[in-house]
Formats: sequence, structure tokens, C-alpha cells
Amino acid sequence: MAGLFCGGCGGKYSLDEPLWRCKCGSVLDIEFEATFPLKEIEGRAPTLWRYRESIPLAADGNIISMGEGLTPMIEEGVDGVSVWLKLEYMSPTGSFKDRGASVLVSKMRELGVKEAIEDSSGNAGCALAAYCAKARIDCHIFVPDRAPVEKVTQIGMYGARIERICGDREAVAAAALKAAERGYYASHSWNPFFLQGTKTIAFEICEQLNWSAPDTLILPIGNGTLLLGANSGFKDLVAGGIIERMPRLIGIQAEAYSPLFQMFKGGLEEIPAITGGDTIADGIAIAKPIRGRQIVRAILESKGDIFSVSEPQILESLEMMGRLGYYIEPTSAVAIAGAKTYLKRASSGETVVIPLTGTGLKATRKIMDLGAG
Ligand SMILES: Cc1ncc(COP(=O)(O)O)c(C=O)c1O
Ligand SMILES: [Zn+2]
Repeated sequence: MAGLFCGGCGGKYSLDEPLWRCKCGSVLDIEFEATFPLKEIEGRAPTLWRYRESIPLAADGNIISMGEGLTPMIEEGVDGVSVWLKLEYMSPTGSFKDRGASVLVSKMRELGVKEAIEDSSGNAGCALAAYCAKARIDCHIFVPDRAPVEKVTQIGMYGARIERICGDREAVAAAALKAAERGYYASHSWNPFFLQGTKTIAFEICEQLNWSAPDTLILPIGNGTLLLGANSGFKDLVAGGIIERMPRLIGIQAEAYSPLFQMFKGGLEEIPAITGGDTIADGIAIAKPIRGRQIVRAILESKGDIFSVSEPQILESLEMMGRLGYYIEPTSAVAIAGAKTYLKRASSGETVVIPLTGTGLKATRKIMDLGAG
């Protein structure tokens, strides 16, 4: 039966309980049987809602959509190797987070939520604020005081209340958690409905490859909402008999914030405590990812790997992508920097997909300050 379930205590709840975590304090996941009527899907509008049977929302009338999904996927040469780039930066608010926001805010409407609380370094806040505006839900976004001005301005333009918090992302999350005692915590890292949106990237990649799976997916990881979403989407496709095997998942972190890299390489059971340094990849400056153990497990199961990349490597990849015609965020360039290492050892003919997660237009000041361009 479909429902919310807890991997920590085995607890089960109805999909209609307004819970963002288990009563035992652990993260929740969603059990739901996805089906894929391919012929019908192919005739539907080009949004992620074309995979309607795979999204756990009861009534179509609750869908909040701004045309997100079905982003272009194009072939490009990176260091002489052909890869597929999925242009997630062409989403309505400029990042892949719109996938999660569309599904989460639709579910919030279904639950009758009137006030949403979220904490974010920027992109998730932009996405949530935009979709809440469309759904006429009050929205409060907690941001670090050093969050990029472009993203904070964008959040404000959508009419969300901005709460600036001094300190790191953990301090911001703690402040949001406190506020969530009176509103609904629409957290992209905790709330499992967010992952039901990000999982649609897997369906699209397969559809764009003529309903076949890629060999490898390379992506940046902070809280892992894209990686865990993709993992769950590919699992749905295997369970639905559309593809036979899972792709390899390769997660990339910035050296300055690499708790998952350290956990993976050290074979650790828990996420190590790290302080974090300076990085231009602000979207993934996460010291303690809530779903860290799930991320490492998914990568291990896929026979994948985690790499970390240095600041000069990120900058070099950012500039290289610009010269190829892609103006992306430094956080997105992290995946390219990791791919450059991965592709050196990849087998020939491997189908590699790299999502370009966010637009460079939101990082122009930072890119200028780096003296790039
Ligand atoms: C542009 C961009 N790319 C990648 C990420 C990584 O997000 P996650 O690890 O939650 O999938 C973020 C997170 O904010 C982001 O803003
Ligand atoms: Zn539990």
C-alpha cells in the first residue's frame, strides 16, 4: 500500500498525514507503485506531470505547475569525450529545484497547508517561493546572511518573507525548524515529496534516450535531493519493467565541504563532523546533509563513486563551460570538474549524463569577483 515509511523505526503513515519527518525523528520516504503508460506519456504536454501515474498526488486539481520538466538534453564533447548535458538551468526559476517544488507545493495544496517554512542557500528557496506564490500559500524562507544577492532578491520578488540568519547552513536550518512549529516545514532536505519531484529527471533522461538507461549519471551533491530523486526514479523504472538496470551514480563535492566524500572513502558508518571552508559552490556548502547515509548507500548500491574537486578545478570547468556556450552556476561546474576526472577512466561508448543544475545568471556577482569571464 502507498504511504510514508520510516527506515529508522519501521513506522508507516498515510500519505495524507502532514508529516515532514517520522515521529521517531528520522527521515521519511514514500512507498508508491509507479506505472509508465509509454504511449500516453509521449502524447502529453512537455512538463514533468506527463509522468502523472508515478507522482503520488491524489487529485489533478491540486497540481501547481509552471511548465517545469522536460528540459533539453544535448550531446557535447567534454575533454574529447561525448556526454549528454541535461539543461536543468532552463527551469522556470533557473534550477532543477523546480521539480521538487512543483510536486511538494501541489501536495501542500492537497493537505490544505496555509503557511510554508523552508531554509535554503538560494535555489530551493527561489523554487519554493515561486510555486507558493502560484498556489497562494504564505511562504517564509530562511537564508544565510551570506546568500547570493541574486537569489535572495528573486525570493523577495515572489513575495516570500525572507529571514536572514547569521551563521552556517546548520544555524539557518535550526532557525527554520523552530519556526516550523507553527507552519508546515517544506524542507527540500527533509520532506519526501520534494524527492518525488526530483525523481522525474530519471524518467526524462530515459525517455530522451528512447526509454533506455544511461550507464552513468554525474552530479553535484550537497543535500542530495537530485541524486536521491534520480535514484528513486531509476528504481521506479526498473520496477515498472522499463529499464533493466540502474545507472552508476557518481556524486561530486567541493573539497571545502566534502563530508560525503570522506564518509565514502573512509568506509565510515556516520557522516564525519566537518567545519567547512570557503567555496564558490555555495549551493553545496552543506556540512551535515540530513540524508547523508541514504546518499552514500545509493551510490554504493549503484557501484558508483564520490569525488571531491578543488576550487581551481571548479573555476576552470566554469570557464570551459562558458566557452562552450553554457552559462552555469559554480555549483553546477562542480559536476563538470568531477566528470573530467571520471571520463579519463570511463570505458569507450559509455552513455554519460550530466545535469547542469542552475543558471549562471544567479551567480554573476560571484563570477565577476572571481575575475572570470
Ligand atoms: C545549482 C545547484 N546545483 C546543485 C545543488 C545540489 O543540491 P542537492 O545536493 O540537494 O541535490 C544545489 C543545491 O542547492 C544547487 O543550487
Ligand atoms: Zn521512525
